Parts: sequence; C-alpha cells; structure tokens
Amino acid sequence: MPTLLLLGAGGLGREVLAAIRMTGEYRITGFLDDDPALHETVVDGVPVLGGLGGAAGYPRSRFLACAGSGTARAGMVQTLAGMGIGEDRFATFIDPAVRLTGSCAVGTGSILLAGTVLTAAVAVGRHVAVMPNCTLTHDDVVEDYATLASGVCLGGGARVGSGAYLGMGATVRQGVRIGAGALVGMGAAVLRDVPGGQTWAGVPARELRPLAPSLQFPISEPDTSWKDPR
Ligand SMILES: CC(C)(COP(=O)(O)OP(=O)(O)OC[C@H]1O[C@@H](n2cnc3c(N)ncnc32)[C@H](O)[C@@H]1OP(=O)(O)O)[C@@H](O)C(=O)NCCC(=O)NCCS
Repeated sequence: MPTLLLLGAGGLGREVLAAIRMTGEYRITGFLDDDPALHETVVDGVPVLGGLGGAAGYPRSRFLACAGSGTARAGMVQTLAGMGIGEDRFATFIDPAVRLTGSCAVGTGSILLAGTVLTAAVAVGRHVAVMPNCTLTHDDVVEDYATLASGVCLGGGARVGSGAYLGMGATVRQGVRIGAGALVGMGAAVLRDVPGGQTWAGVPARELRPLAPSLQFPISEPDTSWKDPR
C-alpha cells in the first residue's frame, strides 16, 4: 500500500484522513503542517511530523495538499516544488461514494468527498477541493485550486476560475462564470458572471466587497495542462 503524507492538519485534512482510512487506498503516515503549535502532536491518531520544509525527508511518500483554501493549497504545492517535489508525487483522492461518469476528468492533487456527483463531460483541474454532496453537471469546468464547499450546485456549462471559493450551498446558474479568486458566499444564487477577486453573496447574488489583497489568489491565469475531455 503506498504511503501518503497529508499537508495541513485542519478540518479538510482530518476529513480526508477519515475518508481514506475507510478505503484503505493509502497508508497515512503523518501530517505536515506549518503551525508549530501542532508539531509533535497527534491529530485523530496521526502524528504531525513537522512543517512542510521536512517534505524532502520522505522520498517514497506521496502528498496531498489539504488546506481549505485554494490560496493555501497553491502555497503548499509551490513550497514542495521549490524542493524539487513535482506533481508526480501528489496523490488524487476521489471518495468511492462520488458518482463520476467516464466522460469526466479530474486533475492531479484534487480531492472529491462523498456524495458528490459529476454528471457528464465535467472537467476538474489540479488541487481542487470538492466537499461533500456537490453537484457538477454537464460541461462544467472547475479550474485549478478552486474550492467548492458542501452542497454547491453548478448548472450546466458553468465555469469556476482558478482559486475561486464557493461557500456552502451556493448555486450557479447554467453557463455562468465565476472569476479567478472570487469568493461566493454560502447560500448564494449566482445568476450573472462574477468578476475575479470579488466577493458576492445573496439571492440573487450581488457584490459584497472586493477581496482584501492579502486574501487574493496569486495565480490569475489558469493552468490548462490537465486534460479537458472536450
Ligand atoms: C460571504 C462571506 C465570506 C462574508 O463573510 P464576512 O466578510 O465575514 O462578512 P460578515 O459576516 O461580516 O457580513 C457582512 C455583510 O454581509 C452579509 N452576509 C455575509 N454572508 C452572507 C451570505 N452568505 N449571504 C448573504 N449575506 C451575507 C451579512 O449579513 C452582513 O450584512 P450587513 O452588513 O448588512 O449586516 C461569508 O459569510 C460566507 O458565506 N463564507 C462562506 C462560509 C462557508 O461556506 N464555509 C465552508 C466551511 S467548510
């Protein structure tokens, strides 16, 4: 069984740990987390072995970036790339309770949790996090480092830009685009395109405010190196 280190011992990391334990797909040997308060502690039965700077010390292990925000996952992937650890060392986790048809594609490093459905010709990029019970319908595209919180529903042909974050239960009308790094509040009904870097919420969704520069996603152009099935 391959060994896996989870990057980030927060909520998503613990959810991924619990889900992978049920599958037996990997042997999880530890977390790496840059919060020094967690070092040498045990989280849900798994040791926090140190910060991400120690990743090079595990040459046979694979990794999975489990931070809840795409910005943080991008930072993790960049940190490991700086040590010569490339995409081929990252795992992809698709819970067995995800319904995924053959015309859909999921990029390296992505996490799809239980109850999510991808209907037809859905393209999910790299290091995307899809939390439980999301519905992605025909021809949707979810770009690298995007995050869909629980219960998000995308109408057909919707596009979620790199690093965008859709809060719990948000719904997106068919054909609508969510710009790179945008934040959509929980429960929103998005009827129009959301420009990159803005925060929208409500029914119908409207702009709340621009994102603070410190929260903006660092990657403005999507990486399309992963395979789009269309
Ligand atoms: C949209 C969001 C980011 C705003 O957070 P915030 O900047 O802390 O905003 P505040 O809570 O200070 O609220 C600011 C205003 O926006 C309104 N607001 C906040 N979230 C809203 C939402 N989801 N829908 C509608 N209005 C919302 C508030 O009522 C408040 O309005 P007021 O100024 O008239 O009182 C946040 O509420 C949200 O939805 N986050 C996603 C949470 C989520 O899905 N988490 C998943 C965890 S796994």
